[in-house]
Amino acid sequence: MAKPIAAVAPPERLLCGPGPTNVDPAALAAMGKPMLGHLDPAFHAILDELVTMLAEVYRASDGIVLALQSTGTSGMEAGIANLVEPGDTVIVGVSGYFGARIAEIAGRHGANVVEVAEEWGRHVPNERLLEALELNPGARLMAVVHGETSTGVEHPLAELGEALRGSDTLLMADCVTTLGGVPIEFDAWGIDYAYSCTQKCLGAPPGMSPLAISRRALERIETRSTPVPFSLDLRLLRAYWIDRPAAYHHTAPILHVYALHEVLRQTLAEGIEARWDRHRRAGCRFAERAQDAGLEVLAEAGHRLAPLTAVRVPDGVDGKEVQRQLLAEQGLEVGGGLGPAAPPIWRVGLMGPNASEATADRVLDALTAVLERGRVPVPG
Ligand SMILES: Cc1ncc(COP(=O)(O)O)c(C=O)c1O
Repeated sequence: MAKPIAAVAPPERLLCGPGPTNVDPAALAAMGKPMLGHLDPAFHAILDELVTMLAEVYRASDGIVLALQSTGTSGMEAGIANLVEPGDTVIVGVSGYFGARIAEIAGRHGANVVEVAEEWGRHVPNERLLEALELNPGARLMAVVHGETSTGVEHPLAELGEALRGSDTLLMADCVTTLGGVPIEFDAWGIDYAYSCTQKCLGAPPGMSPLAISRRALERIETRSTPVPFSLDLRLLRAYWIDRPAAYHHTAPILHVYALHEVLRQTLAEGIEARWDRHRRAGCRFAERAQDAGLEVLAEAGHRLAPLTAVRVPDGVDGKEVQRQLLAEQGLEVGGGLGPAAPPIWRVGLMGPNASEATADRVLDALTAVLERGRVPVPG
């Protein structure tokens, strides 16, 4: 008879790549609490609290917030699927992997996609996005990545929202690497649809996508003439998450909801501004020390994303081999370039429980030690 397979025994890792980050121990503990049914009023009371906390973290009180039963990509797709109809024009800022993904998804949903591209490491200037809007005044949606995880660039989102004020074009923001780690003011900045994930600055496991939807985006959805894919239909999701009595839409990932509830609770207990500041200090520390060590930060100055720093792999160094050694010898995960268009980089994420100056030092020390001992080809 075949030998029985042992239970999973994953190795301990310090996850300092682009995400997932290590899970906050309180979130893991929350996942061990008793299972409830998804239609149990006791569970709906938990959802109600989660919604109240999520609205605070997004600083969104005008429309609705909820958490989609899947990851950041589905949050992206839900935005396109609900806000765009075939033939609509969508303007997308693309200067990395995830901007390109928004454009790809919008195209798959039949949109006429206008890409405003910049090279990796730079932000897409708002002036260029607004020029594209002047050329396409009927555009229904403008989409940008607030924190481009493939490059470590932060988009000036507040200014874009301000510039679009009064326009009929809705603003969609990818906040996957910013929610809980970088300032976001959903209402004040005039964002219409934001999506995020649980596995980065919030410090929960991957598996849900927290969304914020403005009142005017909800109104836009009401006037659609074509149906939305069932699992992403925000009207049906609202009937489960927000309206009471709740109407069944899907079986909620109960334990993930507990984990998200817990990290939102922790975020508010810490203070959202304090949490942004903790991420800022960790990211700055890593970027400064990396530069002192002779490494070049990919992102242009003034637009650096604190939770994720990309540094160029020095000429002559095998970046993947460095990552392999860090993982094998120290249990330390850092990321590499994402996709064929990526330059040779390492991506270091300091997110959620790992957003500290001590962890920044630990990663930088480990990286420079591997480079210095020279078992990877170093520049000649
Ligand atoms: C900026 C950005 N957008 C979207 C995604 C997709 O999220 P997920 O992998 O959770 O589907 C990611 C994932 O890392 C991301 O960094």
